[in-house]
Amino acid sequence: MANALEGTVALVTGASSGIGEATARGLAAHGAAVAVVARRKDRLDALVSELESDGGRALALEADITEREQAVAAVERTAEELGRLDILVNNAGVMLLGPAADAPIEEWERMVALNVTGLLYAAHAALPHLTRAAQDDPRRVADLVNVSSVAGRRATAGSGVYNATKHAVNAFSEALRQEVTTQHVRVAVIEPGAVVTELTDHLRPEIREQLRSGFDFERLRAEEIADAIAYVVTRARHVAINELLIRPTEQVR
Ligand SMILES: NC(=O)c1ccc[n+]([C@@H]2O[C@H](COP(=O)([O-])OP(=O)(O)OC[C@H]3O[C@@H](n4cnc5c(N)ncnc54)[C@H](OP(=O)(O)O)[C@@H]3O)[C@@H](O)[C@H]2O)c1
Repeated sequence: MANALEGTVALVTGASSGIGEATARGLAAHGAAVAVVARRKDRLDALVSELESDGGRALALEADITEREQAVAAVERTAEELGRLDILVNNAGVMLLGPAADAPIEEWERMVALNVTGLLYAAHAALPHLTRAAQDDPRRVADLVNVSSVAGRRATAGSGVYNATKHAVNAFSEALRQEVTTQHVRVAVIEPGAVVTELTDHLRPEIREQLRSGFDFERLRAEEIADAIAYVVTRARHVAINELLIRPTEQVR
């Protein structure tokens, strides 16, 4: 399976840390050329150097995907500079928790702008390329993977707007799947439970403290979610994994 993605091109958003960074490594290990997208260009450059020194092809694209022009430009530059686009992993996201009543409204705006609107910009720009790749060798199938969350399956107090954004990702993914699957563009949602990444660094300190007490168990590693994404996109052409919910064993809810 090591070369299952040879001759393909993938784009991973939010690849400067966490799940996105691990996913870029995972797809490159399967032979894909990988465009990595985020705002922290130094991190992307270091990742590209690493992937290239391992013999891969990679491209660092600095973009704030909440800006429509930047999201579209990242997709178009990937297709131009790497030649095509077979796999989009819509991973960039932010989780800003806390009760609704006293929440800074800017936190809600940031989550909707990135988790929903940014994801939609990238998906919309990528669809023509994915449809084309799905008609072409080497795989005659293409993949759009949206990173949702357990929070996209069940809502909890203190997480309402994050829940709303991830439920939106799930709803959009299922509707889009029905539209494009007969063209061999597979749409998948990945729903991780708690993973050790930088995601909680952006929480207000008092919220982070409250959250810590509820997650006092061994959390998943980003590589374990990257493995799941690699599994989804390396299936045979007639096999579409539409949804994967992956919790740490000890995570109850
Ligand atoms: N960690 C978990 O427990 C967990 C659980 C379920 C789901 N998820 C989901 O997994 C995804 C990845 O998160 P993570 O856990 O790996 O957290 P992370 O380490 O904080 O990664 C988030 C990524 O998003 C990028 N990003 C943020 N704002 C952006 C923007 N405006 N434009 C482009 N890129 C932007 C960040 O890069 P820059 O700051 O450099 O732009 C970073 O690369 C998210 O969608 C998250 O909701 C995570």
